[in-house]
Amino acid sequence: MQKSIRDLVPYDPGLTLEQLEKKVGKKIIKLSANESLWGPSPLVKTALQEAFNNLNYYPDGVAAELKKALASCWNLPEENFCLGNGTDELIFLLTNAFLNPGDEVVIPTPTFSSYASSVKIVGGKVKPIPQEKLSFKLTEIAEAIHTGVKMVFLCNPNNPTGTFFKHGELEVFLKKVAPETLVILDEAYCQYATDPQFPVARELVNKYPNLIVLRTFSKVYGLAALRVGYAVAHKDVITELEKVRQPYNVNIPAQIAALAAWQDEVYRQKVVKETVEERVWVTETLQQKGLKVLPSQSNFLLVQHHDAELIEERLLQEGFLIRHTASFGLPDWFRITIAPHQEMKLFMDSLERVLTEINS
Ligand SMILES: Cc1ncc(COP(=O)(O)O)c(C=O)c1O
Repeated sequence: MQKSIRDLVPYDPGLTLEQLEKKVGKKIIKLSANESLWGPSPLVKTALQEAFNNLNYYPDGVAAELKKALASCWNLPEENFCLGNGTDELIFLLTNAFLNPGDEVVIPTPTFSSYASSVKIVGGKVKPIPQEKLSFKLTEIAEAIHTGVKMVFLCNPNNPTGTFFKHGELEVFLKKVAPETLVILDEAYCQYATDPQFPVARELVNKYPNLIVLRTFSKVYGLAALRVGYAVAHKDVITELEKVRQPYNVNIPAQIAALAAWQDEVYRQKVVKETVEERVWVTETLQQKGLKVLPSQSNFLLVQHHDAELIEERLLQEGFLIRHTASFGLPDWFRITIAPHQEMKLFMDSLERVLTEINS
């Protein structure tokens, strides 16, 4: 066993929806993992029929068609793209390609856990920068990056807070950070951002060769099960990623579904519009109940309550799986995924019952 993994614990994905429903004995609405409850575009189902005719063949190892579609939208050459088996794999490829044991990586916290675990697997040293106000202060983070820091992970909007930093702040940060430090900008939830000052990553990739943007098909495109993500970066960075990538990491159904989802812009816009409308309604309704809710630019909300764990437990009995955020170092908070109005309305009724019971 490698020394670097001695103290690591395997990621616990929890029970599947089916297993959970069996355990609780009722239908469960899953609001715990920021998936899209709108599901993928209807065009995906049709496109997938084609995939079933080719299951005996290896997939296109470079995912040429999908890459071409992405490159054309980003207005960048295909050599700036690397496809991954979900963003999770790309994070893993980045640490494998660029870190040596002992290398230091800055990670503002709380944030998505895969960054730290991927760094630790290769023997890298995580330097967490706790963000007291639960929104990233890029000036503070830049100060923590001395020469020699190999990488910094920035999640925007951040998981689990939903908060965001602005384009201007990111540019100042990129100018401050040494070109040897790789800046990994995880934009898994960027499509849900409505603030006009949200960063436009496409304008920055050409300007900063140390910037790597990560995107996923798991959230707004509703394809979490199929595992597709991509990295956009300078071609020299992509060349290194390609060296450590497994030859057929994105399977045939995944490539076909991602392409179909990418091409259905009307459906994507509908999902975003409805999610954002619902985000406003849920935020206001929770605030009317006296709860503190962080302003979110994402498809989830972080809500404060001193009995967050108990609320998670009781809501499960009501048929809703939410995420108590103790594992993020936030024991007094819970995170809920925004779903269509019908589900959110039922959720609010259940939450009302749970809160009344807790307060009585
Ligand atoms: C910030 C962030 N990045 C990446 C991922 C993983 O995405 P993928 O499904 O593409 O591996 C998640 C999943 O929840 C996430 O929250």
